Amino acid sequence: MNILVIGGGGREHAVVKALKKSKRCGKIWCLPGNGGIARDAECFPVKATDLEGILGFAKTHPVDFAVVTPDDPLVLGLVDELEKLGIPCFGPEKRAAILEGSKVFSKNLMQKYGIPTAESRIFSDPKEALSYLETCEYPTVVKADGLALGKGAVIVNNFREAEEAVRGLMIDKIFGESGSRVLVEEFLTGPEVSVLSFTDGKTVVPMVSSMDHKRARDGDTGLNTGGMGTIAPNPYYTPEIAERCMREIFLPTIRAMNTEGRTFRGCLYFGLMLTPKGPKVIEYNCRFGDPETQVVLPLLKSDLLEVMLAVREGRLKEEEVRFLEGAACCVVLASAGYPEKYKTGYEISLPIPQKDEEIYLAGVRAEGEKLLTSGGRVLGAVGWAETLRGAVDKAYALANKIKFENAYMRSDIGARALAALKEE
Ligand code: AMP
Ligand code: GLY
Repeated sequence: MNILVIGGGGREHAVVKALKKSKRCGKIWCLPGNGGIARDAECFPVKATDLEGILGFAKTHPVDFAVVTPDDPLVLGLVDELEKLGIPCFGPEKRAAILEGSKVFSKNLMQKYGIPTAESRIFSDPKEALSYLETCEYPTVVKADGLALGKGAVIVNNFREAEEAVRGLMIDKIFGESGSRVLVEEFLTGPEVSVLSFTDGKTVVPMVSSMDHKRARDGDTGLNTGGMGTIAPNPYYTPEIAERCMREIFLPTIRAMNTEGRTFRGCLYFGLMLTPKGPKVIEYNCRFGDPETQVVLPLLKSDLLEVMLAVREGRLKEEEVRFLEGAACCVVLASAGYPEKYKTGYEISLPIPQKDEEIYLAGVRAEGEKLLTSGGRVLGAVGWAETLRGAVDKAYALANKIKFENAYMRSDIGARALAALKEE
């Protein structure tokens, strides 16, 4: 089968590499891909948000199956358009992708169907939001309704900060129409867990759980980023909690979406917080996480293409989805300065990954035989092993062999998880 993958980050590199292992995988194209993915798939510079460009490509190439990974094209309805051309896709239709596309939608859904989440109020008038914020307890969380590059949630400690957040989102519209409505949400505490799942709308199969490290600096300090590293499995996510999440969150979400006539097929990502009052949903994503995918897919024993086809064809129940017993760690190498200003254009020297290691390339471009840095998050160094300790050591040993000027990584990816394991 010839496969079209949409996207161009480390996550897409992990997806491409996993698909290539399938016996049924023929040619792979990746739009736009990147200079590193181009070593594994044929890349063309068509942006993931350029729906016309992608459809034009799909019409002129013998595509048998498409995998749409990033949030924007899913929310814009790329899957619907490709399916209209007769190309089966992995990824939710527009009607279902709204679960990530609108936090107001997902909050209302959770409230209507009794799915545990933070208490929250919705505002479309900045004045009303502010008069509520004058009286509420702090800290609290102000969130944009729509997509905001992962930066739409602001934790505010007092009214002054809340005012600033409301002004940015609703008046200055730093994320455009995404901030036309905001949610003011109860501040929850507890360990965070990412659970990616496969679902065909009937069956939901959670993948191995993971933990993201969103802050730029060690000790979970510094600015929020797209993710500086991940580990899997997440030690806080015990079998008892997993069972409870299936009963109280995963199945009720799938059923609620069916009842609303918005059946979700694809990868549904549950962003959870394990609060003292039980697991609650922080957010839904309608896609694989980045860099969660970089630790989850190396542990997937089953054939990713077969699983994706089963999701698309509504026969996930019959498909066995199996994971390795061990653990994985991804250390992101970024350009120093990320997520603010940074310099790029530096040559990258890469070692050859050994057994149970992988390098997933993200912010890189090719110049002849050379690879140069071109983005904030440049690549992920991934190692897996029987134990988390082994995986973390492997990922750091690999990361330390990768050289480019201006490189920055956190030195404590996995530290919190290792400490949690010791406490048990
Ligand atoms: P979101 O964009 O909704 O994923 O939020 C981004 C990050 O903000 C999450 O990963 C949490 O760390 C934090 N966050 C979001 N909502 C809450 C909440 N209600 N209470 C505490 N932290 C939150
Ligand atoms: N790593 C968080 C996300 O992909 O949204």
